Amino acid sequence: MDDNLIIAIGSDHAGFKLKEALRGELASKGLEVKDVGAYSEESCDYPDIALAVAESVSQGAADRGVLVCGTGAGMTMAANKVPGIRAVTCNEPYTAEYCRLHNDANVLSMGSRLIDVADAMNILEVFLSTGFEGASEAGARHLRRIEKIRDIERKYGKES
Ligand code: RB5
Repeated sequence: MDDNLIIAIGSDHAGFKLKEALRGELASKGLEVKDVGAYSEESCDYPDIALAVAESVSQGAADRGVLVCGTGAGMTMAANKVPGIRAVTCNEPYTAEYCRLHNDANVLSMGSRLIDVADAMNILEVFLSTGFEGASEAGARHLRRIEKIRDIERKYGKES
């Protein structure tokens, strides 16, 4: 894992405990972690947190984003409304690997009700240590497909 990465992390109330554990693990590995909340298990709205993490990544303040809610799904839906964000829900490592290799995903979302800390840390390590294949000539098709995602954003007024 590249320990120069800056990570924005956030959760709602359902993901708070898992987010706290992941934040601690990342910090102990020497990564810079920007925690946008939640700061307790008091009920809050996942789109508010997803927006804060997504904006941190889209504006370049963080290299990657990590989100935790009950399933990972709502966070992903909200984060993907921000131009330039390619958020994905991963509750197993295969998707984490291939969404980096093929989709250059920049935000990982996980579900605290589906996985434990060890599973989540494994998924997160895969996500942070896997590169995008589109940077090489052999992976040009992946870059072309991401350009098509950007075209969709432009078509609907979400320039990136
Ligand atoms: C909160 O109960 C739950 O809806 C939320 O954490 C998340 O799973 C939404 O997608």
